[in-house]
Amino acid sequence: MGRDSSRCAVMQEKGKSRGFGIRPFQPDDAEAILALHVAAIVATSDSYYTHEERNSWASGKSAQNYLDIVAGGETVMVAADLSEKPIGFCGFADAEIRSLYVDPLHQDKGIGTALMRFAESALIASGVRQITIHSGLPALGFYQAHGYVTVSQSTHRTSGGLPIKSFMLVKKVTAISAET
Ligand SMILES: CC(C)(COP(=O)(O)OP(=O)(O)OC[C@H]1O[C@@H](n2cnc3c(N)ncnc32)[C@H](O)[C@@H]1OP(=O)(O)O)[C@@H](O)C(=O)NCCC(=O)NCCS
Repeated sequence: MGRDSSRCAVMQEKGKSRGFGIRPFQPDDAEAILALHVAAIVATSDSYYTHEERNSWASGKSAQNYLDIVAGGETVMVAADLSEKPIGFCGFADAEIRSLYVDPLHQDKGIGTALMRFAESALIASGVRQITIHSGLPALGFYQAHGYVTVSQSTHRTSGGLPIKSFMLVKKVTAISAET
């Protein structure tokens, strides 16, 4: 086991001591991931997007989507509570963190940060030196607090048809820059 995979193992153990573990997505997780994904979107504040915009963002998702993205080569890591129930997830591939959502009942406990650090470490271990994230308004401050810099703003057409503001952020990373 190399240094970077050791680091991932250490982060998984650290999470457990805080009441959650991080593990790869399993097909049985798909329904629970769908539920927390929709809940995390709908629960974001009115100060970012209207109720209609959030419903449009959350609409049209299915459990099959997660099976498809994993089959397509994306890595999806799941944060699970001590009873193995998924309470957060993060998808990444090709130098990009593509999704990061934490169950609203479990936010502000370090789960999003732990998932993001896991993804960063895995991308760094695969040779990536700049990580890209496309973010909506609710998570923008979170990513900026973790060193990501906004490079562009655009309009994202949500699956329900309504447009919302979207941002592309990047972070330069080195083999030793994943926070522990
Ligand atoms: C963004 C998200 C993944 C963070 O997960 P989390 O488990 O709550 O995050 P953590 O507990 O690791 O970190 C929370 C910290 O981030 C800060 N934070 C969260 N959202 C923030 C924001 N928009 N702006 C600034 N800081 C933010 C919190 O204040 C807290 O800071 P502290 O550690 O100094 O107290 C989670 O809130 C979420 O799922 N949000 C809704 C969905 C979403 O927008 N996902 C991103 C899609 S691109």
